[in-house]
Amino acid sequence: MTDISGYSCRVCGGKVAEFVDLGQQPTANGFLLPHEADDVFLFRLAVGACEDCALVQLLDEVPQEFRYHANYRYHASGSASHRKHFQGNAEHFLRTELTGPDPFIVEIGCNDGVMLGTIAAAGVRHLGVEPSTNVAEIAEAKGVRVLRQFFDEQTATAIRAEHGPADVVFGANTICHIAHIGSVLRGLDTLLTPNGIFVFEEPYLGTLIDGMAFDQIYDEHVFYFSVTSVRNMAEQYGLELVDAEHIPMHGGEIRYTLARAGARTPKPAVAQLLADEQARGLSDPETLAQFGHRVEKIREDLLALLNDLKAKGKTVVGYGAPAKCTTVTNYCGIGTDLVPFVVDSTPAKQDHLVPGANLPVRPPSEFTDAYPDYALLFAWNHAKEIMANEEAFRASGGQWIVYVPEVHIR
Ligand code: SAH
Ligand code: TYD
Ligand code: ZN
Repeated sequence: MTDISGYSCRVCGGKVAEFVDLGQQPTANGFLLPHEADDVFLFRLAVGACEDCALVQLLDEVPQEFRYHANYRYHASGSASHRKHFQGNAEHFLRTELTGPDPFIVEIGCNDGVMLGTIAAAGVRHLGVEPSTNVAEIAEAKGVRVLRQFFDEQTATAIRAEHGPADVVFGANTICHIAHIGSVLRGLDTLLTPNGIFVFEEPYLGTLIDGMAFDQIYDEHVFYFSVTSVRNMAEQYGLELVDAEHIPMHGGEIRYTLARAGARTPKPAVAQLLADEQARGLSDPETLAQFGHRVEKIREDLLALLNDLKAKGKTVVGYGAPAKCTTVTNYCGIGTDLVPFVVDSTPAKQDHLVPGANLPVRPPSEFTDAYPDYALLFAWNHAKEIMANEEAFRASGGQWIVYVPEVHIR
């Protein structure tokens, strides 16, 4: 079924029903220099769910070449916990799936080689597929073999022709970025051995909704997977969801394992998680509509609070300039009249502007040198670490404004 009046599902062609509209938005990580601010590229950031297969997805999208290029800012090896997690993944694959005579593993979106570095060091045949050349170079310096391209059916065919079939295809925080996901899944059919698996770890719709993490919605995140929608998607392409497990990455993700239909026995966790989603009505239109209403309420409450503080002559500074900050400031219309600047520890972001909202990004010293009355915490996923580091701010009488899962002062 294809809906010609509105948006159709990228996987099954069904009708996609919108449930949240975050307005005109730039690319979330496209931090600009002041003289570039007028040229910002905007698109409508809205999300809907497929009425047929339950897949939650962006309605409009930004071309992939605008998002992944020679200056991609996210470096996967940036934190110790990520390095440890992906080294663990690599060791797990080496112990389990890669024990045959001449095993071969492919990673879609290998970034700076955080996972494949360990595979390369073990001398196992591998290939990373990575279109962002700046991070691909870093991976290569770790001895990782990289194909600098976007993965799709065509690249899968080329990889198979040159290297033979893959025992494992892996992707982390990448598959949800790929709008042409049908081409990826057809590519797997070409690339995997008969008993091969596709393992991918992605942000979970259930976590997004429970935490009201609406600012995790931005141009790079095209899909917001659930176990139900992944099960349905796999079926469309002759694959089967054989395992699914919660993992504590990025605040709560799921690791999915797909195999060719009938090739492996699904683990009991799959049926259990499907039943959990059914019981809580995760994909129900009412659940999603309620999320949309609660997002609007956060905007109202946050603007009311900021305007009230301004009227009382209180100062507010933004803390952290993550991609999330772009979504929330542009959605709420927070400009320099309400938040004159934000501080962020990333040198590459400093002296730039938060895209669209044009809030200047300054070094953390501007915060510590003259504490404001309130700090609006955009990097809320790092709340514990930041609040512990900034104890002196609170001691000075300062207070934190946090806007998820609802607006509150801490
Ligand atoms: N796997 C790492 C990096 C995730 S960032 C981690 O989990 O931390 C997403 C990466 O996917 C980026 O490096 C981006 O360049 C890459 N990417 C985006 N689209 C892709 C595609 N179609 N094929 C392969 N890689 C892609
Ligand atoms: P993060 O939430 O990790 O990523 P994303 O952009 O994908 O949402 O970004 C956190 C931002 O906060 C990052 O730009 C660094 C900044 N930050 C600080 O300025 N100080 C801190 O103490 C921490 C932990 C982060
Ligand atoms: Zn669909």
